[in-house]
Amino acid sequence: MRKIVAVPIGCGHYLPKRQVNNSEFERTIDTTNEWIISRTGIESRHFADPSENTSDLALKAARMALSDAKIAASELDALILATATPDQTFPSTATRVQHSLGMNKGFAFDIQAVCAGFIFALSNANALIKSGQVKKVMVIGAEIFSRILDWSDRSTCILFGDGAGALILEAAENNTKEIRRGILSTDLNSDGKYNDLLFVNGGVATTQTSGFVEMQGREVFKHAVSKLVSTAENSLKAANLSTKDVNWVVPHQANSRIISRTANIMGIDMNKVVMTVSNHGNTSAASIPIALSCSKQQNRFKSGDLLLMKAIGGGLAWGSVAMRW
Ligand code: UT7
Repeated sequence: MRKIVAVPIGCGHYLPKRQVNNSEFERTIDTTNEWIISRTGIESRHFADPSENTSDLALKAARMALSDAKIAASELDALILATATPDQTFPSTATRVQHSLGMNKGFAFDIQAVCAGFIFALSNANALIKSGQVKKVMVIGAEIFSRILDWSDRSTCILFGDGAGALILEAAENNTKEIRRGILSTDLNSDGKYNDLLFVNGGVATTQTSGFVEMQGREVFKHAVSKLVSTAENSLKAANLSTKDVNWVVPHQANSRIISRTANIMGIDMNKVVMTVSNHGNTSAASIPIALSCSKQQNRFKSGDLLLMKAIGGGLAWGSVAMRW
């Protein structure tokens, strides 16, 4: 049966130049390098220059993805950008990137699902491709969380970093039963009753400020482990696959303990898990596409490898995507 599949054709990423080690926080708040590493796995993160906006980071990642895919921006039909830290309240950061890239047709829009944003964007891109509406889509996760951190709150400010990652998907026709490449299944979830576990204490309609991140870390941790396992199982089941088929897990990079505990419950060897949190911190919607692009640079994935991507963030919102590279 003829089937349209969304196939990855290129990826890219950008991390701001300024790399900040844990020792910098030791000078300003009551924390230690040892505490941060042992509780989170984070050793350093990148922070954007004051002159850089989220769209600047996204643009650099997008240009690298275009060059990797060997296509021009004018060939893109859509650009979907996941961010919780847009340049402006409106218009979308996606339209700014669309213009800067020289993408002169199609449409661009933002998606907001915080740390799960890239998974939500990828799922939407997949749906647009499968419905036949678009052929080539740029999916970006880009964040400058350093603009919404309370530098006096040691329980949150040490966790996050800035960056952007991009993945380009292309429609491919598959008329065999066995799908060799592309997105096989997606699973999206949210539950607004958990709003108070992880949120920003400001907003356009409430305080007319952008606010700062607040989190009940221990509670989010518990939800993260159970919900990431259940969404991963849902995606695999929907694709008639099991954990044994997984070549690589590319998880949201919030905390190395969440990543390893989740892998352990699923019976997946840590050698199959991509881990970038130590050098990037939690870059929210950008963490998975950055991890994809870094892995590609290191030639870690083979064509046809089964990748399981999963993420959770404020909302709570969580989800996963099973994709053959
Ligand atoms: O990306 C979106 C999803 N986000 C996440 O998945 C994050 C989930 N949560 C976590 O990763 C972890 O809960 C944290 C890393 C945020 C915190 O680790 P934890 O092991 O859950 O620590 P905790 O919040 O239970 O705090 C333990 C202790 C507390 O002190 P007391 O009350 O036991 O005296 C905190 O005040 O550690 C203290 N603490 C710190 N100590 C040194 C909290 N932050 C720090 C710090 N340095 N930076």
